[in-house]
Amino acid sequence: MLRALILSLIFVVAGGLASVGSRHVLILGGSGRIGTATAIHFLTRDPSLHIRLAGRNAQRGQKAVDEVNREVGRAGWCDFVSCDYTSEVEMSSAVEGMDAVVHVAGPFVGPNALRPLQLSLAAGVGAYVDVSDPIEYLDAARKMHSNSTVAVLCAGAFPGMSNVLAMEVASLCDGRTKDLNFSYFTAGLGGSGTVNLDITNYGFGEPVPRCVEGEPVLVDDYAGSDLGRVNFYFDDDNVSDRERIGNRACWAWPFPEAFTVASKLNISGSSRAGMGTAPAVWNDMLRLLVEIVPRRWWRTAAFSGGMARFSEPLVKATDLFVGETHAMRIDVTSDVGERSAAVQSHESFRRCVGQSCAEFCLDILNSKSIREPGVYLPEDLYEDAEARERIIKCLTTTPGTTAYRSAKIYANK
Ligand SMILES: NC(=O)c1ccc[n+]([C@@H]2O[C@H](COP(=O)([O-])OP(=O)(O)OC[C@H]3O[C@@H](n4cnc5c(N)ncnc54)[C@H](OP(=O)(O)O)[C@@H]3O)[C@@H](O)[C@H]2O)c1
Ligand SMILES: *[C@@H]1O[C@H](CO)[C@@H](O)[C@H](O)[C@H]1NC(C)=O
Ligand SMILES: *[C@@H]1O[C@H](CO)[C@@H](O)[C@H](O)[C@H]1NC(C)=O
Ligand SMILES: *[C@@H]1O[C@H](CO)[C@@H](O)[C@H](O)[C@H]1NC(C)=O
Ligand SMILES: *[C@@H]1O[C@H](CO)[C@@H](O)[C@H](O)[C@H]1NC(C)=O
Repeated sequence: MLRALILSLIFVVAGGLASVGSRHVLILGGSGRIGTATAIHFLTRDPSLHIRLAGRNAQRGQKAVDEVNREVGRAGWCDFVSCDYTSEVEMSSAVEGMDAVVHVAGPFVGPNALRPLQLSLAAGVGAYVDVSDPIEYLDAARKMHSNSTVAVLCAGAFPGMSNVLAMEVASLCDGRTKDLNFSYFTAGLGGSGTVNLDITNYGFGEPVPRCVEGEPVLVDDYAGSDLGRVNFYFDDDNVSDRERIGNRACWAWPFPEAFTVASKLNISGSSRAGMGTAPAVWNDMLRLLVEIVPRRWWRTAAFSGGMARFSEPLVKATDLFVGETHAMRIDVTSDVGERSAAVQSHESFRRCVGQSCAEFCLDILNSKSIREPGVYLPEDLYEDAEARERIIKCLTTTPGTTAYRSAKIYANK
């Protein structure tokens, strides 16, 4: 009798301690390519976390749990729940009791797109992180209020890490920021799922948000235009650094950071964001298609989705030899004639996106004083130099990082 009493007492105390010590994170879209990479990074960084993957298909979910367990090398810390985020009932029950929600089940458009954020704020989770990028979504999301959640939107690699790096690069120059350029490279799909092919095609039909002569504007017929070649290294880097990613073609695409970070910095000149891929022939083909196919076709699911399904086998095949590396470069000029830049590269785009989501989330959970509850973009959350230094250190020292450097460069080298 006494023994049973003591035992149950121990259970109650231990249970209480466990629920204080171990935090629960829901990854919506956790059975996808980015979702599993996020889960793996979480469990590697903090072995005491409980990760719950969520998606509609239970079979796909179980395969994802197996993949995560296998990579992390232990089981029991990752499970799966069937949940369609468009269902209020399923989503409410999935977020209940969670310390954090990471939403990577794009594409963040459609009638219920804001539901995961709404319900996470209503449930009062500590941290909410997503990889959204449509400007309409960001506008609506940033109007939402919260009493207890710190939410960060656009928190992948780009947009995400790139927004924070842009704030850093701008801080290296004296004077007011004039021009701001984001340049990205991803080999093939970079290990991400096919939803990315859909999104990329769809983007060719969209107006491009950017700043021109200090004014935020939406530019029609600009996505896909040639931005020239970009060096993903510094001029004084040694040969091995130069050869890692090298010099790549870049074309415009509607990334929101060319608009949101430029507005945050109140730039006096122009901003643009663009990307390129490998093999190089894709860049030429895409630019050609953008010239001959009417913009309104790209905006239809029939054309963009059809193109994605048509090209998917070819992209998957070429991905086998181009790998999934990625790189980014951010360039800034200031109105007193200074220039600065940052270059970052990683072995795997997919891992880099996953690690970014996980690191942003952990930083919010671990530094509760980071900000008042609310909905933020990365450039808002890491405007402060000290907070920025902390997150950049986390984002640029993860396994698989092949380069990171930021510096002031003078125009006349
Ligand atoms: N910012 C960045 O740097 C960056 C980079 C790469 C990708 N991304 C974004 O990351 C997102 C995911 O990409 P991915 O490559 O991981 O795609 P993916 O492999 O196709 O995964 C999508 C996941 O979402 C789930 N899902 C889809 N609709 C759902 C719904 N209604 N309810 C619940 N779960 C749902 C899918 O599972 P079920 O089908 O079983 O539901 C799957 O687990 C995309 O939005 C992409 O734009 C951002
Ligand atoms: C936030 O606080 C206000 C005022 O105390 C309250 O009316 C509201 O319901 C709260 N919202 C949430 C999401 O908890
Ligand atoms: C930004 O990109 C534009 C267009 O590609 C280019 O003309 C300009 O020189 C670039 N500026 C910087 C600072 O890289
Ligand atoms: C060249 O770069 C590599 C990778 O950053 C570094 O390990 C090496 O020491 C560098 N060599 C020189 C001569 O700077
Ligand atoms: C942006 O910069 C201009 C010129 O310096 C200044 O007049 C304006 O007030 C600034 N706007 C904001 C929102 O800081």
